[in-house]
Amino acid sequence: MKTLLKNCVTHRSVLNILIEDEKIAALEPVSDQKISSYDRMIDIGDALVIPAMIDPHVHVRDLELSYKEDWTSASKAALAGGIATIFDMPNTRPATVDRASLDLKRKAAEKSLVQYKFYLGATSKNIDILNEILKDEPEDIAGIKVFLAASNSNEIIKDRKYLKRIFELAGKFNKIVVVHAELQSCLDIWKVSDLKHNILNHNELRNRMSAIEGTKICIDAAYEIGNKMSLAHISTQEEIECISIFKNSDRIFCELTPHHLLLNSRILSKIGNIGKVNPPLRTAKDNEVLATAVRLGFVDYIGTDHAPHTLAEKLQDYESAPSGFPGLETALPVLLTAVREGTFGLEKMIEITSGRAAEIFELKNTGEIKVGNYADLAVIDRDVKYKIDPQNFLTKAKYSPFAAKEVTGKVLKTFVKGKMYECEKL
Ligand code: DOR
Ligand code: ZN
Repeated sequence: MKTLLKNCVTHRSVLNILIEDEKIAALEPVSDQKISSYDRMIDIGDALVIPAMIDPHVHVRDLELSYKEDWTSASKAALAGGIATIFDMPNTRPATVDRASLDLKRKAAEKSLVQYKFYLGATSKNIDILNEILKDEPEDIAGIKVFLAASNSNEIIKDRKYLKRIFELAGKFNKIVVVHAELQSCLDIWKVSDLKHNILNHNELRNRMSAIEGTKICIDAAYEIGNKMSLAHISTQEEIECISIFKNSDRIFCELTPHHLLLNSRILSKIGNIGKVNPPLRTAKDNEVLATAVRLGFVDYIGTDHAPHTLAEKLQDYESAPSGFPGLETALPVLLTAVREGTFGLEKMIEITSGRAAEIFELKNTGEIKVGNYADLAVIDRDVKYKIDPQNFLTKAKYSPFAAKEVTGKVLKTFVKGKMYECEKL
């Protein structure tokens, strides 16, 4: 099956794109009009066409937590957000920490409409099990996830020697370790702090020192061991300062979420525990530094940290409300809006939402609009203005810290390996 997409505005030029089955078979400038053999033609009508987003940080839930989200709802939300590939985190129930739990997850993920991989979770006891799983070179494992602090997580790694052993193991199999680097020992001060336990103090209680210290420990360890490591959801100026020193290493990477880039703790007086997330929303100054870091190339990729919980759970009191909120359907609209506002360029946005993740996670034939690559594409109306309305979300979690934000840019269609999904019809 050959499909010709006519009049696609890419960030470089206006192209006709020929898709043959799963892949991009030919590209031509619209003025050429030479591609004449195809089964169907779709006029893209000068909409923006970018590589579909790759989201290396998603909590799909499913299994015992399918009331929060499952692979059908999460993958539909991804499609609605222009995302063709997601990597699922291991802090599920059961946690993805051994073969049996991995097989359960593999079964659940068969429902997915988008491409996926899984992280294996590190526990204080499962290093041999991880070794056993990885030695079969499973294609569907994105890497190993380590939590240094409790955060809806199943287990945390406290022992630094053991952390290095995990890094070594990952290095042996050329797998990346993705770390949630808030450090539990720094967080424990909330137990003795005089600060009132409420959402307005979340940024202080779950203090920035914990993220900074954890980041330093992980960078030191990865530098020493020589493995590939990525720091999930960096949130502070100081983490960027630490990371920037190692930016030439090509082994030490970092992820930024749209919410740490664009929101800060000032919003919490309006949205309460809806905005509770770990690491917390920080300060306006951090937003500024993180935006500069994107422009300077210190941020490798965007991860949404899509972390759905039920609205009822989120509306509980501060201590009981779980951390996290959905992000699959808001990421591209808020980032496109940031591009329009001049925070960074479109080319940079495309790099951190697709190209760089494809490189770092070694995904073959994707992340770029190029002949021979899979047709993983997002078609976007760049000009339409609207307010984010969570009632329209396809995730089960119909709330967002970005609710009511005016954005410019809407995903119209998402292609996954050449298969077209129209967002209106999902
Ligand atoms: O806010 C968060 N939610 N941070 C995490 O680290 C975990 C996530 C979740 O799983 O809900
Ligand atoms: Zn997460």
